[in-house]
Amino acid sequence: MEKFIVMGGNRLTGEIAVNGAKNAILPIMAASLITKGKSTLFNVPIIQDVLVMQKVMEYLGAKVVLDGNMMYIDSEDVKPRDIHESLMRQLRASNLVIGSLITRFRKIKVAFPGGCNIGSRPMDLHIKGLLAMGAKITERYGYIEAEATNLHGCDILLDFPSVGATENLMMAGVLAEGTTIIRNAAREPEIIDLQNYLNALGAKVRGAGLDTIKVEGVKELGTSVEHTIIPDRIEAGTHMIAAAITGGDVLIDKVITDHLEPISAKLMEAGVEVIKYDDSIRVKASNRVKAVDFKTLPFPGFPTDMQPQMMAMMTVADGTSIVSESIFENRFKHIDELRRMGANIKLEGRVAIIKGVPSLSGAFVEATDLRAGAALVLAGLVAEDATVIEKVEYIDRGYERLESKYSSLGARIIRVNNSRNGS
Ligand code: EPZ
Repeated sequence: MEKFIVMGGNRLTGEIAVNGAKNAILPIMAASLITKGKSTLFNVPIIQDVLVMQKVMEYLGAKVVLDGNMMYIDSEDVKPRDIHESLMRQLRASNLVIGSLITRFRKIKVAFPGGCNIGSRPMDLHIKGLLAMGAKITERYGYIEAEATNLHGCDILLDFPSVGATENLMMAGVLAEGTTIIRNAAREPEIIDLQNYLNALGAKVRGAGLDTIKVEGVKELGTSVEHTIIPDRIEAGTHMIAAAITGGDVLIDKVITDHLEPISAKLMEAGVEVIKYDDSIRVKASNRVKAVDFKTLPFPGFPTDMQPQMMAMMTVADGTSIVSESIFENRFKHIDELRRMGANIKLEGRVAIIKGVPSLSGAFVEATDLRAGAALVLAGLVAEDATVIEKVEYIDRGYERLESKYSSLGARIIRVNNSRNGS
């Protein structure tokens, strides 16, 4: 088990680059199982979730080679093996192999991926869509068994614009008979990246980024594709807040500024200076940020994956901020940890009221999930004295060596291996 020790008080200044998007690479790795061919992916982030998805794919018979930030996948020998819960439970996004395996093999058996610390993470929208496409689904003993001898297009309206359900149904539609229309689809940029990958393989997907996606079934897909993963907008947003909360001045490279609009707008409302360039963004903050209210919403609303990080900044903002988490029912576990650092937060159901305090104090805290862990790093950057953050493996799921990136900007943060000092 490893931990971070952060000594607060330094302004972050300088320049860092963002890696490829975790929430784009995971569905695209799953989609690569559809074809009996090779995928070469660039700008792949070397993060734990990618390594777990690699394990799932290799278990199914794919060859996956990582070379720096490049990934070579050969899905020729993939077989429809049952995926046990021990694998599926390690990564929620493992449920994305359902859409690709049902398309290629028409028969799959995978364990439920299970919930995680931010909510129950049901699969009902995924299942409803697959049933509408002709799949026979059995849910028993913790497994989803799906069989679809003739997968056909359908016109499905999602009760909620679920990212995963949209992605699974896009993948299920690429070789189906006829056209699949997904209404009230998720509009996240990662959906567009998946569409671009599938179309580069010869699929006919249109409308990603809008609320209606059309997938015209084709007879077969190509067997070789190259694709560059889009930048990670949540990693970029996390760094934007690191600059703002420390009163710093940071240039964040290799971003798509359009993907950052909801975050940039909220930071500017808080009095932070945000300057957009072609593929980078500069964030400067000279004074204490102002408290702002925000509600998490599907894209292009304020992203739920930025809620903990933004809340960390609100704990030291000037004024009172009201935060509503409308996406997940249990995404406030970071509040208890922030309170240990002196934050003044009241929680009423899915609404948190944060009264900004002049300063936070270092404390022993622990990451409860990926973004909550990132929020604690941000709070530690400004807290007086030392903050010790346990369970940084959560942070490593979605960020490549976060401590190295912030050290390069002047932060005092080190990674310590617990087992070394016997604690
Ligand atoms: C994706 O998760 C992301 N993960 C999450 O990022 C992100 O928070 C989430 O989308 C929302 O933007 C990946 O892309 C790998 P959803 P996903 O299906 O697809 C409910 C991070 O920190 N729902 O859009 O699982 C669900 O309970 C992670 O990077 C159903 O009710 O999210 C939740 O309340 C965390 N039934 C809401 O929809 C379903 O069948 C959003 O879930 C599916 C979802």
